[in-house]
Amino acid sequence: ELVAFFQPKCLAGQRVLITAGPTFEAIDPVRGITNLSSGKMGFAIARAAQEAGAEVTLVAGPVHLPTPRHVTRIDVQSALQLHDAVLPLAAGHDVFVATAAVADWRPADCGAQKIKKDGSGRAPSVAMTENPDILAEVARLPARPYCVGFAAESHDLAKHAREKRQRKNVPLIVGNIGPSTFGRDDNTLLLVDEQGERKLPSASKLHLARALVAEIATRLGAAKP
Ligand code: C5P
Repeated sequence: ELVAFFQPKCLAGQRVLITAGPTFEAIDPVRGITNLSSGKMGFAIARAAQEAGAEVTLVAGPVHLPTPRHVTRIDVQSALQLHDAVLPLAAGHDVFVATAAVADWRPADCGAQKIKKDGSGRAPSVAMTENPDILAEVARLPARPYCVGFAAESHDLAKHAREKRQRKNVPLIVGNIGPSTFGRDDNTLLLVDEQGERKLPSASKLHLARALVAEIATRLGAAKP
């Protein structure tokens, strides 16, 4: 509470919605497809936004992290559940930060029973279908919040982040190198907006989250005359 008390209240009165962590796409009742996102960056942003005076809702995929103090948390598993949790809430928020590593595809059918080996030596083929793009859908809402997307890349970070900003039609994309940061407590961020690029050099995720929250607050001030 003391640490929180001394943070600048740059998001006082703002409502912030955040997605974090991976999604889990079931293949059958005991198996599924997921990814290496730990949720740490999104949880750090939730904490930083709350400490900056915002009312924060955090929609989290399957992660092993404690809920930041005074943050409302909704737990989900799959991309569709994340979508169904976020969409009704989005228009009631001022800021939407999409840090979740949402699976691009899900198995088309999740059978009620475990798929068994049949002794033939052949692996079953799993048909996949594309998941909805939650960030792009939120960005299309008539009463859209200020949207911040993340780009977890392995190479050409600035180029991919710029393309993603255009494709998803969001004002701010935060790039990071996925394999260097997944599961770790530190990160390096590249902020890409209409004006250009700004690097936030290597630091703890909480430190970067506080810097990002300050950057969002500045842009929000500019966005709302
Ligand atoms: O291009 P890509 O889909 O990987 O963009 C990543 C950004 O979009 C992240 O902010 C992520 O949270 C968001 N996203 C989403 N729904 C998806 C895929 C990605 O909200 N289905």
